Amino acid sequence: MSYQNIETLSWIGDQHGWLRMIDQTLLPAELHEIDCRHVETVWEAIKTLRVRGAPAIGIAAAYGVCVGLQTIPSDADIVEFKRRLHEVVEYLASSRPTAVNLFWALNRMKAKAESFYDSKNIEEIKVALFSEAKAIHEEDRRICRSIGMFGQELLRNGDTFLTHCNAGGLATADYGTALAVFFAATEMGKKIKVYADETRPLLQGSRLTAWELMQRGIDVTLICDSMAAMVMKQGKINGVVVGADRIAANGDTANKIGTYGVAISAKTHNIPFYVAAPVSTFDLTLVDGNSIPIEERDSEEICNGFGKRTAPQGVNVYNPAFDVTPAEFITGIITEHGIISPVNRENIHHLVSTS
Ligand code: MRU
Repeated sequence: MSYQNIETLSWIGDQHGWLRMIDQTLLPAELHEIDCRHVETVWEAIKTLRVRGAPAIGIAAAYGVCVGLQTIPSDADIVEFKRRLHEVVEYLASSRPTAVNLFWALNRMKAKAESFYDSKNIEEIKVALFSEAKAIHEEDRRICRSIGMFGQELLRNGDTFLTHCNAGGLATADYGTALAVFFAATEMGKKIKVYADETRPLLQGSRLTAWELMQRGIDVTLICDSMAAMVMKQGKINGVVVGADRIAANGDTANKIGTYGVAISAKTHNIPFYVAAPVSTFDLTLVDGNSIPIEERDSEEICNGFGKRTAPQGVNVYNPAFDVTPAEFITGIITEHGIISPVNRENIHHLVSTS
């Protein structure tokens, strides 16, 4: 089965159907889909990174609400419906803390349900929620294309860019954010090369980004995270584009652990560093990046990754899944409405409030 014919996320059937997704933990060895017919399965898929990447997590959670409400009969009491909706939303919100798109999508689903409460017709509310989840999914496709079109203007024919983690079609409905920039540049006829950091400890760069770029015929070179500074010093890199999990009001940006180090290296070597993200990734309730919640994950990911013990039993481990790159390291933020540059509170507020 080729990736071109298979969706990161898809819904099977009408609102009584289920969520299907690529199990990203098996890539690149196996391209395998799993079906999520229960909210617990959706939660587990988000928690264990079967589906990952900020926009994809939001879409999965929106569909997760639909799955979670299927246990409520259409003739149930509206009070019972509201209780269950609250339970499902809180449960899905507990899966991962950093990517704000998860909470953004859940809030959108809650608001949609609330706008129908007067009717007290449970079936009608469920249909409206299903349409909302589909809308979130479809909108993300358009958003990614638009990010790609704005972003590709930053690349010249012959450029080599570096990326970290995976912000591609696997992390979104389709096409990606950071990788959309490369896809769009290629579609515009530019010949580009990409260096992909492997992205310790879960290797989203090597397992997913390198795979996705190769699937689309883009010239990609895989490096270990520790090699990024050297390839920059060697003059091999013209620019960096990464995705984002949450962007504070001043532009401080949380993304996969290691991004901050890449940004420091880029600044040291005078290389432009771009973030590509939809407006749903901005969290204007946070004045700066200090209050972005950073997920800490199991020590086994570092000590026993992919079934191979690589550290002594019982060693102390610190495993934050994300870091925050300060706004002053970011040359521009590529959104579906244009590029924010310079990155500051005023420019962010203007773009987000007029979008
Ligand atoms: O832990 P992950 O794989 O969910 O982390 C993903 C990232 O950090 C991505 O760069 C980010 O979510 C943007 S995806 C378009």
